[in-house]
Amino acid sequence: MSKQPIGIFDSGIGGTSIWKEIHKLLPYENTIYLADSINAPYGPKGKEAITKLAIKNTELLLEKNCKLIVVACNTATTNAIRYLRNTYNVPFIGIEPAIKPAALKTKTNAIGILATKGTLTSALFSKTSDLFASGITVVEQIGEGLVELIENGKLESPEIKTLLAEYLNPMLEAHIDYLVLGCTHYPYLAPLLTELLPKSVKIIDSGEAVARQTKTILQKHNLLNVKPLNPSNVFFSNSNTNVLISLIGTHFKVDHLKF
Ligand code: DGL
Repeated sequence: MSKQPIGIFDSGIGGTSIWKEIHKLLPYENTIYLADSINAPYGPKGKEAITKLAIKNTELLLEKNCKLIVVACNTATTNAIRYLRNTYNVPFIGIEPAIKPAALKTKTNAIGILATKGTLTSALFSKTSDLFASGITVVEQIGEGLVELIENGKLESPEIKTLLAEYLNPMLEAHIDYLVLGCTHYPYLAPLLTELLPKSVKIIDSGEAVARQTKTILQKHNLLNVKPLNPSNVFFSNSNTNVLISLIGTHFKVDHLKF
């Protein structure tokens, strides 16, 4: 079973930022990535619609014989992972905004969170926020429009820069010293964010933690693929594959698939 692939899905190409961390930590693992770009963004959709999409992606990965599924999407995790865990018989790894480390490390007692509407309005997010950040100022900001621009490859466009500057403004006024990226598309904005933020503000995301957790759970279930054979890393997109390829490079197999 350990040779079966790890399945990873996101509303689009953002979860490749998580795939990169997993591939770095677990280079011998076979992986299958699903970019559900045709349905992006998930963020403005309701819990039920997000759960339906998460089910569709999960069932496709299970048909492809995945041994474990990484929900590489904060929006799908915060809205649907409970349902997925209760329904399917494989381990699931989810991703949530890294509020806890930011709340523990802040010196200004103020942190910013940039995430989708679906994440910020979820019960799981409120619970985590209440648990770890109750004594500090949390400036929450919906990154409206960002995912669409990233999906279209407009990573360093003037439009995205204008939106980001607007979204960061209330955070800077509140003197945040940590910015939590609560959407897997946003690590691709790191160069622009670094340009727009003062040096005193540190950016954190959950990518490395997700990779470490994936390893821990594979070990726990005896599913780690330790044989250094040629691993297969396959990417499926139900939309244009060009932007996906520009993010992961040309040496991986990328296919268009209707799902
Ligand atoms: N990349 C996703 C996340 O982490 C979803 C973005 C979206 O589709 O709105 O939330």
